[in-house]
Amino acid sequence: MARPLISPSILSADFARLGEEVRAIDAAGADWIHVDVMDGHFVPNLTIGPGVVKALRPYTDKPFDVHLMCAPVDQWIDQFAAAGADIITVHPEAGPHVHRSVQTIRNLGKKAGLSLNPGTPAKMLDYLYEEIDLVLVMSVNPGFGGQSFIASQLRKVEAIRSTIDKRGLDVLVEVDGGVNAETARQCMDAGAHVLVAGSATFAGGPDRYAANIRALKGE
Ligand code: DX5
Ligand code: ZN
Repeated sequence: MARPLISPSILSADFARLGEEVRAIDAAGADWIHVDVMDGHFVPNLTIGPGVVKALRPYTDKPFDVHLMCAPVDQWIDQFAAAGADIITVHPEAGPHVHRSVQTIRNLGKKAGLSLNPGTPAKMLDYLYEEIDLVLVMSVNPGFGGQSFIASQLRKVEAIRSTIDKRGLDVLVEVDGGVNAETARQCMDAGAHVLVAGSATFAGGPDRYAANIRALKGE
């Protein structure tokens, strides 16, 4: 089985020491750094703005995988691009012109992602696959770390991966929410390439990060 890329969500990091936390997960084997941006409106939580991403940029060379849970989202895209995001993911549920949003991201020279909430069907992507680099399948309802994995989303991962393969597209499938060593394996079997993990990466403190990431990779 192919090894997944791991994108630890810094939502579960110690916010008082974010720079050091990013450096620690980089050293522990993180492939990307997942940044959960919540606006207190699209989701019931308030987290990180572009200023924090800019401040963290010098702490790692790994890609910043920025997950925007904001509505309306378009006003934030250029600010996160300027702050140092590499991949910018938006929710089609968060605005009426998602095609324009992903085009904006690519025009800024960044990789564009689309994230589907658990209740949103894969069909939503039909006319968007050519415009994106990544699909982020939410396996929890967005808003908080530490929630339980919603198993029905594995079928969505399978459906999306099969469309990508059938059409010969260069699009990655990422899964976000409730990913631990056990659900990680299920996500990989279903066809995921990248796994977000917040609580499972940061559990037990800095001495455990490397072992936690190895376990998520199935090593
Ligand atoms: C949820 C976020 C996730 C979350 C994952 O809205 O998008 O990235 O932080 O956390 P865990 O891995 O703890 O479920
Ligand atoms: Zn996320």
